[in-house]
This record gives sequence, structure tokens and C-alpha cells, in this order.
Amino acid sequence: MNFRDQINTEKLPRHVAIIMDGNGRWAKQRGKIRIFGHENGVTAVRDTVEAAAELGVEFITLYAFSTENWNRPKAEVDALMSLLVKSLNKETATLNKNNIKLLAIGDIESLQPDTRRELQKAIANTAQNTRTNLVLALSYSSRWEITKMTRELAQQVAQGTLNPSQITEQTISQHLSTHHIPDPELLIRTSGEQRISNFLLWQIAYSELFFCHKLWPDFGKEDFFRAIVDYQKRERRFGKTSEQISN
Ligand code: FPP
Repeated sequence: MNFRDQINTEKLPRHVAIIMDGNGRWAKQRGKIRIFGHENGVTAVRDTVEAAAELGVEFITLYAFSTENWNRPKAEVDALMSLLVKSLNKETATLNKNNIKLLAIGDIESLQPDTRRELQKAIANTAQNTRTNLVLALSYSSRWEITKMTRELAQQVAQGTLNPSQITEQTISQHLSTHHIPDPELLIRTSGEQRISNFLLWQIAYSELFFCHKLWPDFGKEDFFRAIVDYQKRERRFGKTSEQISN
């Protein structure tokens, strides 16, 4: 039986987050430059988003560009940005056809003006869609987000509009860039690396982690379905005992 048929559609995660890793190694294995890997990564993005929409997963978040990625060679950064603009341009019609709404989290102000413009255009052009939300994490990192949130709350305390004793976990969640998005139940990372790399640190407190050995350009629909099947076999206890959960 294939993985798609093993999925219990009544017990889908609402939100799946993905660290797309291994584009550079995929290109190197073929004697090509890194951007060749990123270009081929776009196919995996398309397949994965399509798989999520087909199942009816409500949110899929892709770590497309981290705050730290700005430190890569300029040629790679420029190529990644132009690939993003090109993909947004090309895929908006497909997003609309599949009823997928595009959202973005991260330091969007730090993107180059043409990238920002294309992103905002694609967001506006898909705003009416309702099946699946595709969230692109762009110039994103958790430490950036947590620093920003802390500054905002400190400012409110300094102005006298927030009492420190009133700060709850909810206050913090509401000041993160994911304030409108539920926490992911499942986090997938490709390429065999087993780390979080500054991604959604607050939000993944109770997420199930799934590490896949395939390099990102080789990741396809069945790999996504396999991760969901694996997730559905796990017992999520949220600090309680197994008996409490089964009762
Ligand atoms: C990680 O592989 C991948 C990235 C930093 C960028 C991901 C971008 C894409 C898949 C293309 C465009 C995205 C969209 C949403 C259209 P790596 O370069 O770190 O690989 P390595 O670890 O093998 O060096």
C-alpha cells in the first residue's frame, strides 16, 4: 500500500513546517553549482505544496530563506532572490487553481524592493483562497522574531500600556510573526541533518519532528505522505501520561 492510502484524513496535522535542506549537496553530487540545486528545489516545493493541498492540510510553512542566509556569497543570495521572484510570478495561477493562499513571515522589510513587490503582489492575488495557506519564511529566524517581540513588549511596558505581570504565553504568541497561524504539529527536515537551525523555536515546543534522508530536490509527494503516516502513529502526550491520553 502506498503512503497516501495509509493516511487517516480525520487526523491530519493542521500545520506542517518544513526545513528544506540539501540543495547545495544535490547540485554538488552532479558536478553543478549550488543554484542548480535551488532551481531543482522548486519542483519539490511545487509537489509538496500540492500534496498538502490535496490532503487539506491548512498551513504549510517553508523555510525558504533564513536571516543567516544573507551571509552566503552575494551571487547565491541574488540567484535565490531572483528564483523566488520568478517562481512567485510563475506559480500564482497554480496557487489560485488549487485554492492556496500565500502568506509570508520574517523580516520582509529587509528584502530587495523588487522581491518585496512580487511577494506582496502574489499575496494580494491569492488572498481570496481558502483551502491551504502556504507560508514562506523569508529572511526569517526565531532569534530575530523573539528579539523583535521582546522589544515591542518592553516598549509597551516603558509606555505604561502593559503591566509585566499580565504577560502570558499568549501575549508572546500574539507578538510573533506567526500570531495568525497555529503552531505546527509536525516539522520535517530533509537531507539527514538533525537540527532546528533557528526555525520556529517557540512554535515547535510540542511539534513532532521528522528527519528525512533525501536531499530537498528529491523530496516528493510520497515523502510528504510518509511523514504524515509516521506522525499519525505517534502518541502526543503534551507532558501528560500515556494513560491520561488514552482515557
Ligand atoms: C537549503 O539548501 C535551501 C535553501 C537555503 C533555499 C531553499 C530555496 C528553494 C527550494 C528555492 C525557491 C523557494 C521557493 C519557495 C520558490 P542548502 O543550500 O543549505 O543545501 P546544502 O545544505 O546541501 O548546502
